[in-house]
Amino acid sequence: MSGGEFETTAVLGAGTMGHGIAQVMAQAGHRVRLHDPGAGVVERGLDRIRRNLEKGVSIGKVTPEERDGALSRIGAADSVPDAARGASVVIEAAPESLELKRELFRAVEAEVAPSALLATNTSSLSIDQIAGGLEHPERFLGLHFFNPVHIMALVEVVHGPRTSEATRERGVALARALGKEPIVVRDSPGFASSRLGVALGLEAMRMVEEGVASATDIDKAMELGYRHPMGPLKLTDLVGLDVRLGIAEYLHETLGQAHFEPPTILREMVAEGRLGKKSGRGFHDWEDQG
Ligand SMILES: NC(=O)c1ccc[n+]([C@@H]2O[C@H](COP(=O)([O-])OP(=O)(O)OC[C@H]3O[C@@H](n4cnc5c(N)ncnc54)[C@H](O)[C@@H]3O)[C@@H](O)[C@H]2O)c1
Repeated sequence: MSGGEFETTAVLGAGTMGHGIAQVMAQAGHRVRLHDPGAGVVERGLDRIRRNLEKGVSIGKVTPEERDGALSRIGAADSVPDAARGASVVIEAAPESLELKRELFRAVEAEVAPSALLATNTSSLSIDQIAGGLEHPERFLGLHFFNPVHIMALVEVVHGPRTSEATRERGVALARALGKEPIVVRDSPGFASSRLGVALGLEAMRMVEEGVASATDIDKAMELGYRHPMGPLKLTDLVGLDVRLGIAEYLHETLGQAHFEPPTILREMVAEGRLGKKSGRGFHDWEDQG
């Protein structure tokens, strides 16, 4: 039932993540209905998908036939019911709001068979809380994709206490059918990726604060000593210091562990507007790097 040629997938939200999810689902042979209430968002999403696929063709990763096939399988839907009606898979990539996501899935459930797989791409909310209002929470799970979706290999398959084993297996199979590497994670704050990544980043900041080494050298320690493709401070600059601060506060609050308490240096840099690459400066200088 996963990754089949005749399955129909609804993707709700066509922003940063949604358009990428629609693309990889269509490339795996699904018919995709893409919905977003924002003016022109679906069109922009389709445009980005077209450009991603063109790029894929130009570097020899996608054949022209695969590009045309994928594009022919994606269509726009005007409403959530239109997107979800009769779909066997529904993936939500709407803004990070518990109420909004709960409401969306209630609307979705009215349109799909009890066997449909329902998945959220939330990066921080509790799977079980999102599933709170569902009649069939056993077919609900998290499929946490990474940005950019068509390039990043990892998918966290997040199961809540009410997610059935069959649903978990279906999530794993679906991720594999998309050419991704699934990891299975229990519903808990930060899942696996953010919890570990943020812990490393915060420790690196404390080391800068204590003058243990420069930001450049701390990054090199991980890049050259541990073969991380990018050091934790450079990564923090790319994600955005404000975004990282928000996640650290959330993890500190929910897990209550001292090592998630945001270091003073992070709070100060955010207050000064040193947010990383997007503001030109973070732990590193990005001004000349575009
Ligand atoms: N950006 C990332 O790097 C990233 C990575 C992993 C997971 N996520 C998660 O993915 C989800 C989407 O994030 P994003 O970065 O794509 O956000 P985004 O703001 O780029 O896109 C969200 C889209 O959802 C649309 N939307 C609003 N209400 C909607 C509704 N009722 N139904 C359908 N669509 C609706 C908005 O118009 C917007 O276009 C969030 O839960 C986020 O936490 C984001």
